[in-house]
Parts: sequence; structure tokens; C-alpha cells
Amino acid sequence: MICSVKQSVTTTINGSDLFLRKRSPAASIRRSSLLLPALHKPERLTLSISKPLHVSSVENLSLRARRDSIKCEAYEAADRSKPVEPDGKAEAAKKVKIGVYFATWWALNVVFNIYNKKVLNAFPYPWLTSTLSLACGSLMMLVSWTTRIAEAPKTDFDFWKALFPVAVAHTIGHVAATVSMSKVAVSFTHIIKSGEPAFSVLVSRFLLGESFPVPVYLSLLPIIGGCALAAVTELNFNMIGFMGAMISNLAFVFRNIFSKKGMKGKSVSGMNYYACLSMLSLLILTPFAIAVEGPQMWAAGWQTAISQIGPQFVWWVAAQSVFYHLYNQVSYMSLDEISPLTFSIGNTMKRISVIVSSIIIFHTPVQPINALGAAIAVAGTFIYSQAKQ
Ligand code: 3PG
Repeated sequence: MICSVKQSVTTTINGSDLFLRKRSPAASIRRSSLLLPALHKPERLTLSISKPLHVSSVENLSLRARRDSIKCEAYEAADRSKPVEPDGKAEAAKKVKIGVYFATWWALNVVFNIYNKKVLNAFPYPWLTSTLSLACGSLMMLVSWTTRIAEAPKTDFDFWKALFPVAVAHTIGHVAATVSMSKVAVSFTHIIKSGEPAFSVLVSRFLLGESFPVPVYLSLLPIIGGCALAAVTELNFNMIGFMGAMISNLAFVFRNIFSKKGMKGKSVSGMNYYACLSMLSLLILTPFAIAVEGPQMWAAGWQTAISQIGPQFVWWVAAQSVFYHLYNQVSYMSLDEISPLTFSIGNTMKRISVIVSSIIIFHTPVQPINALGAAIAVAGTFIYSQAKQ
């Protein structure tokens, strides 16, 4: 039993992502120091489809396996002589630490969603706001690398080649979600986005030929049914908004599949992988943003937004861009500290936080049947998490 805890090889839960990774404590601390107080954690290897996106070095796997095996024997010996008591203080500290990560992650995500929607209400140009989010994250990371707050990754052509399809999918998923939020309530976009596990299972089943236990398929019924109920009862339904969220779900599933295929054996930390992803996505998105919207529309829209909102509109744009990068980065940091199952539950809880807070802040009209659909969909993702485990 202790052996399995120590080994910390875990399998997926949420339909988001598929990745295999091992991070060094040093990398973890570097990441932590960028935004949050550093929190020590043991090294661990994680296999997950719950969120991001990379494999950072698997070269010492067999050595680790031998070491873990030695640890297991030692613990088993300890088991025979004396039961190992959980350290109450350590447990409590761990819970507090996870609580801090979750609270930070959710709060950053809620703030991003609020400012993103405020900006989109006044300035309905989602292609530009998506581009600015990626530009801001890229700039923050370039500054971090040049000032040595974070260590720059060593990459080669193969790395960028493997990253390209991931970045294409990331770009599509990001811009589609933003287009969705420009057309419908934030809560509606996130209700539909809670259906991502269904996309993951269906793509894995029909395109990759993977099969799952029956309970996993059954768990899709409340997810799909709940999303459908929420969609048909949505008062401000808009087809572009609905399709944007659906395309985002599909794109993020492919992003995860490509990242799993492309990143095996590479040794770039999660933070730097996400930074490179942002930069490549920025390069991909910029010409499309110019083609779809373009400087003339942006200039006219900007003038209108400034005249309606005032100079603080600039701060709204800055806030949505900065918080987009921060919440993504903290979600990566959270993954370093918690199991994928905990992460998946946290991600679902994050959607609840966003749905509830956006309904309150934007006074979104919600019918009881609509709320029931959302509740069923979110509950379905919890059931899916359990079934996948
Ligand atoms: C985006 O703009 O990329 C999406 O809003 C991401 O949403 P998620 O991180 O909650 O899936």
C-alpha cells in the first residue's frame, strides 16, 4: 500500500490532456518562485489526461524504478515491525498547501474570465484579445528568461517541429473559446466546456481505437445530456457561441494527443513548455487575427471602447491578458503538487466557480431547468473522473 503511494505513477481522469512527465524539484521551485512562494514537493512521475501537455525527461526511469522498489521493500519491512502512522502535521500542511494552490488557480481563472468578458462586451474582437493573451504570456516569459528569473529551455528544431501541431490545436482551442465567450454568457461557455471528457473519450475511441470500461461510457450520458439540456434551455443561445465552445473542446483533445505523441523523451519543464507553446501559438494566430479582424476594425473598436468605458479599459485588457497566463501557469504548478484525480476534480470545481461567479457578476438570467442541465453536466464529469480511475 505504501509502495503504491511512494511510486506515484498515476493514470488519468479528466478528458483534458494526455501527458507523461517527471519534473525535478529544482524546476518546480523555479516555477513556484516566479509567482508563488516555493513549496517543496517530492519528485514524481505522472501519467495523466487531465491537463497539460509535456514530457520532461524520462531518462532515469529504470533507475527510479529500482530506487522505488528499494523504498518499497524498506517500507514493507517497517510495516512488519511497526505500523507507519501518518504525520498529522504534515498531512494538515499538505492540505493547506493544496488549498492555497486551488484557491489561487480558481481565483486567477475567475478574474481572467470576468475581465475577458468585460473586454469582449466593450470590444467584441476575440481574435485580438486571444492574441494579446498569448503575447502577454510570451513577453512575461521572455523577460523571465532574460532576467534569469527562470532558466531558458534548451530547444532544437525537432522540439519546435513536435510542438507545432500542439500549438495549432492550442491556438484553435483558445481562440474558439474566446469567440464563444464573445457571443454567449461566460457561464454557458463553461457549461459546454465541462463536456470536454466526452470529446476525449469519443476521439480516443473512434479515431485512436482505444477502448474504455463500460462505466466510463455510461458517465458520458450525464455529461452529454446535461450539456444538451443546458444548451436547449439557454435563454441567450447563440450558435457561434455554442460551436466555439464545442470546437474548443475538440481542439484541446487533439492538443493533448499531439503533445503526448510529440514530447516523449524531451526534457523541457512544464513552465517552459507552456511558454514555448504560447510563443508558437502567437506566431500562428497573429496573421489569422489580422486577416479576420484587422487593424482598421481594432482601431475603430478601441476608440469606441475607450469613449464608452474610459481609460480603465486599457487595464481591463491588461488584466485579461496577464491573468490568462497566470492561471495557466498556476494550473501547471498545481499539477506538480497534486494527483491528476485531484487536479481533475479541481478543474471541474474551477468551472463551477467560474459559472457561479460570472452569473452573479454579469446578472446572467438562469432558468431552473437550465441550472439543472449545468448541474447534471458537472456532476457527470465527477462521475467520469471516478470511472476513469
Ligand atoms: C481559453 O481561452 O484558452 C479557454 O478559456 C481555456 O479554458 P480552460 O482553461 O478553462 O479550459
